Amino acid sequence: MAHSASDMTPQALASLLGFYADSGVDALCEENAIDRFAQSEEMAQSRRQNASRKAQEQSAPRRSADPAAPGTRPSPAAATRQGASASGTPATAAPAQASQLTVPGEAVFNDARALAAAANSIEELRAALEGFTGCNLRHSAKSLVFADGNPDADVMFIGEAPGREEDLQGTPFVGRAGQLLDRMLAAIGLDRDKAYITNMIPWRPPGNRTPAPHEIELCRPFIERHVTLAAPKIVVMLGNVASKSLLNTDKGILSLRGGWMEYISGETAIPAMPTLHPAYLLRNPAQKRLVWADLLSLQKRFEEVNGN
Ligand code: URA
Repeated sequence: MAHSASDMTPQALASLLGFYADSGVDALCEENAIDRFAQSEEMAQSRRQNASRKAQEQSAPRRSADPAAPGTRPSPAAATRQGASASGTPATAAPAQASQLTVPGEAVFNDARALAAAANSIEELRAALEGFTGCNLRHSAKSLVFADGNPDADVMFIGEAPGREEDLQGTPFVGRAGQLLDRMLAAIGLDRDKAYITNMIPWRPPGNRTPAPHEIELCRPFIERHVTLAAPKIVVMLGNVASKSLLNTDKGILSLRGGWMEYISGETAIPAMPTLHPAYLLRNPAQKRLVWADLLSLQKRFEEVNGN
């Protein structure tokens, strides 16, 4: 049995990769296994050394101000920050668990905000995202998955992040969850000509893991600007990540769903409803009855905003 790709013919390699893809193995992390336990022990050791060095420094007389001392303005993602690289590019090159990622420095968050704010059209925003290299997810994703549907539609749906199919095709909600979303839309007389569809995060997280808090914060200025530029009359958040992040709440989707709230976009308050994510419904089909109630409520709102 061949163990190295270089021993295989291109045909055999293609067939092996096809077999992996069919089996759901779609993210290549590293050629060799990495001992994460040893890595985390090394990190813990270096944290202990840093802490004891800091304690020694603090007990010694201070000569100059410490820029990292308490009192420095915290950034939105400071709670999750583990370190920063000068270039702003995360030091972790290979796909990793969210908890093992290095969070970029404040300059990268500022970059994201400035780029998003400078976009004056949806096309400019797409170009800004294409040029933004500060989010680690773009380095493992195949495509930028920006949006689908009609940007002039009255209703905008915001999901979590692209999955495998979306990453391959560069279009949001085209996999199984997307097909269910299409059926949900059809049930209330909508389709992709009458709705605008995007995600909180435009790049696929490796292995479809939940986006890390700093990834959400890096992408937040772009999705916020996206809503402002599309100016929908209604926003529907699909699932926990979009609902909690955009409504700035800790409440879970099961308590938020179906309620009408306001999403504040610049000077405008847009009626917004969180509902269950279609991927969740695929795993929990009995919950479709809850979403049916949400869809009827959305249909009513949609008719109201259209003056029917
Ligand atoms: N799930 C999402 O949240 N978005 C997609 O585009 C696909 C699946």
